[in-house]
Amino acid sequence: MPQAQLDTSNKTPVNVDEIYTPVQDDLVKVQESLRQIVPPETELLANSIAHTMQVRGKLFRPLLSLLASGASGKIDDPHIETAAVAELIHVATLLHDDVLDKSDMRRGRSTVRALWGNRVSILSGDYLLAQASLKLSRLNNCRLVSIFATVLSNLCEGEVEQVRASYNLDVNWENYFKKSICKTASLFSACCESAGVLNCHTESEIQRLKLFGEKFGIAFQIIDDLLDYTSSAQALGKPVLDDLKNGILNAPILIALETFPKGSNEYQKLQGLIESLFQSEMEPNDQVASQQELLALLDNIDAIEKTQVLAERYVREACEAIAFLPDSPYRQALFDLTCYATQRQH
Ligand code: FPP
Ligand code: MG
Repeated sequence: MPQAQLDTSNKTPVNVDEIYTPVQDDLVKVQESLRQIVPPETELLANSIAHTMQVRGKLFRPLLSLLASGASGKIDDPHIETAAVAELIHVATLLHDDVLDKSDMRRGRSTVRALWGNRVSILSGDYLLAQASLKLSRLNNCRLVSIFATVLSNLCEGEVEQVRASYNLDVNWENYFKKSICKTASLFSACCESAGVLNCHTESEIQRLKLFGEKFGIAFQIIDDLLDYTSSAQALGKPVLDDLKNGILNAPILIALETFPKGSNEYQKLQGLIESLFQSEMEPNDQVASQQELLALLDNIDAIEKTQVLAERYVREACEAIAFLPDSPYRQALFDLTCYATQRQH
């Protein structure tokens, strides 16, 4: 494969629309499949599901699933349904996640938890999981059931690992990667693994597709962490420094914590700022001041650039894993998608 295709340090902005092009028609079918989930009979649940499914998200996971399918052979109805399953699971996790994170805004809109409360949010997530299971059951493929059941277990483990490590400055990279693989990369890798399974690849090729998804998922999570520091509330559709305010020490902070020797003045300053931002009842002015001080400190040690470099390393490794696939618009779009993930602003 020409080296240029794997050159993730290439900063030429990726045209997102072009990434969607090879699977545009298939994505329309995924959306149709999502619209056809069984509507709840209970009015409150129906309203909450309608509110949730109304939003036209980026359909990132279906996109990944379809591109991996196209790149590894073909896209038929089972591939479309599997892509829809991935989206349903993703949306279900967000309904649960907003409860855990006490988030009232997502994608610039009020969350279900803000509108109807935590219980409705959790149960709406459960409803979507049930709908995902129904779709999976119709595919009559035990391997796919096993892949997505494993994802659900991983998601729970990742979230619990995050809860365990929260408000704790002793978090390390091992915890960080374990959490990121479980809570983000597992669904990405399932999208790619299932494509390989549906297209009857050899086991070692399926594992390479899975590895692509995992490495890409890690890179995606690292950039998500970074955007918490570099993006705006308007672009993100949610408050900035949200992770830290929820006690989560993410990649830029881990880089900063390992840069300063423990006990040094800088380390203590960093520790003080992190601990102050953990406090949600802080005066807004004090909070802004602490945020600015923290951002300046991160800037001094190039923590943002180092975080970006780390993500690009995972993108490179991801692309190497699927170099065995024949050149095609789908494979090229997968490479571009990984590059886009490191360039995105929200
Ligand atoms: C977003 O995290 C959340 C996830 C990627 C996974 C959430 C998983 C669970 C709540 C586990 C149990 C759920 C199910 C349905 C099995 P984030 O808070 O970092 O991102 P955000 O900024 O988009 O909220
Ligand atoms: Mg959240």
